[in-house]
Amino acid sequence: MTVLIPQPLTGSRAFRTTLGCFPTGVAIVTTLSEDGAPVGLTISSFNSVSLDPPLVLWSLARSSECLDDFQARRGFAINILSADQTELCNRFASAHDDRFQGVSWTASTYGLPVLNDIAALLICETHAVHDGGDHEIYLGKVISHAHSKNAPMVYANGAITRPAEKP
Ligand SMILES: Cc1cc2nc3c(=O)[nH]c(=O)nc-3n(C[C@H](O)[C@H](O)[C@H](O)COP(=O)(O)O)c2cc1C
Repeated sequence: MTVLIPQPLTGSRAFRTTLGCFPTGVAIVTTLSEDGAPVGLTISSFNSVSLDPPLVLWSLARSSECLDDFQARRGFAINILSADQTELCNRFASAHDDRFQGVSWTASTYGLPVLNDIAALLICETHAVHDGGDHEIYLGKVISHAHSKNAPMVYANGAITRPAEKP
């Protein structure tokens, strides 16, 4: 038997390791810039919040290049990645002049960018934005959604890991 003894926070490294013990999916959250160009980034902070009303959340680093776009647009699409979309995951997590260049996408509700071959999709209106320290917490009201039979990508311990089986 192991009994964990909680340690005070001394730096971000051990804190990240502890947080990484909670596996998540991976999504690319997208919106449109002021001039209508698609923007988006890779996230793992997505989570469900409420069924009635239907609310979800994710958090955005205040240092994000897309901060102004998400603050201004009041809507976003959560593209939940399939297990085999590692390339897209990496592309939307790295600096790129245009992350959408050469990537197939479709303009969905409100023109929000939807990627091909994803595991699931949620189209949201921005319901509220809360303070989250060095992140902003986006609460989205789900307007529409869809899911595929694709196994979702899983992220744990700082890496993409074995995909979850679809029941
Ligand atoms: C698996 C994974 C999960 C991530 N989750 C988040 C997240 O939840 N929120 C966030 O702001 N950045 C997250 N990032 C980091 C961003 O994708 C990355 O910093 C990106 O370059 C930000 O681009 P931007 O400055 O255009 O927003 C994640 C990266 C990876 C690889």
